[in-house]
Amino acid sequence: MAESSSPRGAWASKTGFVLAAAGSAVGLGNVWRFPYITGENGGGLFVMIYLVCIAVVGLPIMIGEILIGRAAQRSTVTAFKTLAGPHTPWKALGGLGVVVAYLVLSFYSVVAGWAVYYTVIAARGGLGGRSPEEIQEIFGATYTSIPLNLVWTALFMVLTVAVVWRGVRNGLERWSRILMPSLLLLLGLLLVRATAMSGFGEAFAFVFGLHADQLTGGGVIEALGHSFFTLSLGMGGLLTYGSYLEKQADIPSMSAGIAGLDTVIALLACLVIFPITFSYGLEPTQGPGLIFTSVPIAFAQMPAGGLLATAFFALLVFAALTSAISLLEVAAAYWIDERGWSRERAALASGLGVSLLAIPSALSGATELFGGRMQAAVGSNWFDLVANIASNWSLPLGGMGIALFVAWRMPDALRSVEFKSGSRWAGFYAGWLVVLRFVVPLAIAAVFLHAVGVF
Ligand code: TRP
Repeated sequence: MAESSSPRGAWASKTGFVLAAAGSAVGLGNVWRFPYITGENGGGLFVMIYLVCIAVVGLPIMIGEILIGRAAQRSTVTAFKTLAGPHTPWKALGGLGVVVAYLVLSFYSVVAGWAVYYTVIAARGGLGGRSPEEIQEIFGATYTSIPLNLVWTALFMVLTVAVVWRGVRNGLERWSRILMPSLLLLLGLLLVRATAMSGFGEAFAFVFGLHADQLTGGGVIEALGHSFFTLSLGMGGLLTYGSYLEKQADIPSMSAGIAGLDTVIALLACLVIFPITFSYGLEPTQGPGLIFTSVPIAFAQMPAGGLLATAFFALLVFAALTSAISLLEVAAAYWIDERGWSRERAALASGLGVSLLAIPSALSGATELFGGRMQAAVGSNWFDLVANIASNWSLPLGGMGIALFVAWRMPDALRSVEFKSGSRWAGFYAGWLVVLRFVVPLAIAAVFLHAVGVF
């Protein structure tokens, strides 16, 4: 532990925190989820709204959430009690976060399972020399298979539990230093390839053009919800990481850096995936399978494509793992801090709970095949339903709570010290506070009302 003045400073350095927080932020949300929801919502305006949400809503809340953690020096539920008294109603925000951690991880682990499976298929040469049609079929078979989904989801959960159980997160964070840039590099390589494809121009216009063909009220709340999802915001994860942060670390700059990196990776993923989609006549609105049906096509036609595809999916698994542990950590920390459980027991029990919750998501593809009885019952498949509740509603609600807590409840002296300490951005304090007090809550409320059709 370096020259830390903070009694709790568990990160070996400021980079320790940045790597962990960036590891949490960068994951399937950027590479898998953002491109496919962009496709479903017609690109263009959806992307613009998303970018505005990141800058105006996400970033200010991110600063606030990390700041609560550092001020309280406690994980999420305990942090609100520490700052606002043992019976404070604000602790419900922490409780909501714990529930959301289980929900998010229950479908996240299914997709991460697909990525593990694809790493294995790619390594065995199963994606090489395949036609676009065959690659579509491989995903279709994966998505609808009961054993494949159960086995690979379970395997990914075992990995996640093992890391949280043994508390070896620090080791993973050191790996992030090499593996995160590697993912960026590989995406860069794919981008170069994509620019040479016939559909690049169309794809670029689709992502950055100002058109709103398919945007609905549901699209606006999806853009807002995803800005929370991708930044790991609104459920106490970054709060917990912030509790280990040394006192002189510049929270606003770090937050901006993490949000910036996260956004670059998400946009890069779109600029890779949509040229392939348009060049090979794939369906941009196809949903969660988009990355698994597009990226392998590009690799199948590149020199050393099998190796590169293996590396790509392996890096995706790693990115998913550093995100998943930040989710499981929130759940486990609750049992450890509030119920006095051992780390091992908390990690195992939470992992089991998530795995049980993951079963209906893992079977969504198969149940679609069986005549869609589940969809008929709840109006969408289980996977989409959970993602929708967690990402579009719970995270923005939690984020609004965090904004209100920081902006209206926290003593100004404490808040301003935490914001300004060591910060090049100290001069933005008043502006940030106004945004958090008024702009953020009103914006989130407006999007909620819009989504239920009030205006
Ligand atoms: N941000 C991660 C991603 O984009 C997922 C994630 C990690 C997350 N922690 C979270 C999402 C907390 C919501 C809340 O892949």
